[in-house]
Amino acid sequence: MQKIIQLNDRRFKVMIPAEEIDRAVSAVAERINKDYAEADTPIFLGVLNGSFMFLSDMIKKIEFNNEISFVKIASYEGTTSTGQVQSLIGLNGSVEGRHVIIVEDIVDTGKSIEHMFELLQAYNPASIEVCTLFFKPRSYSRQIPIKYVAMEIGNEFIVGYGLDYDQLGRNLKDIYVVTE
Ligand code: IMP
Ligand code: MG
Repeated sequence: MQKIIQLNDRRFKVMIPAEEIDRAVSAVAERINKDYAEADTPIFLGVLNGSFMFLSDMIKKIEFNNEISFVKIASYEGTTSTGQVQSLIGLNGSVEGRHVIIVEDIVDTGKSIEHMFELLQAYNPASIEVCTLFFKPRSYSRQIPIKYVAMEIGNEFIVGYGLDYDQLGRNLKDIYVVTE
């Protein structure tokens, strides 16, 4: 019998078991280990909240010296014409001249990662790559290259392993998909 869970008004069923997630995380970590073996202390930037579980599991499989920051985009009322000013908060120290790997839970349309990428570019890092647990290629419509993808999925809505539905479900060790 398939386990069904309820989060607020929606029901979800298991789509990707924890063991399969672990294999995908290992494979992507292996690629990063190869690509950054000679790089000078890269920085992993985990985008809060969704990436916390992915980054904490992936980083245990990383074999080169590295630094970690968890970041958020903060909005505040500014004095520009648009009124809204956004900045990146949570950076430990400077990323100028450093190799940065942005770690995301999921890239869907790409709007969020594009915005994060642009904010980060203002800090003049040596390089920026994106590593995401999930990628929805049929939904993606931006130009930022998504170099490290652990798993590709369709346009279905998923929760678990850090991803939420109305802030619920982040604790689940398996990935669940919404049922019709
Ligand atoms: P974007 O469309 O690439 O900007 O995705 C923005 C955000 O939507 C992601 O960072 C997630 O927080 C959320 N999101 C997109 N697809 C899903 C999903 O299937 N489950 C949970 N959150 C999602
Ligand atoms: Mg997110």
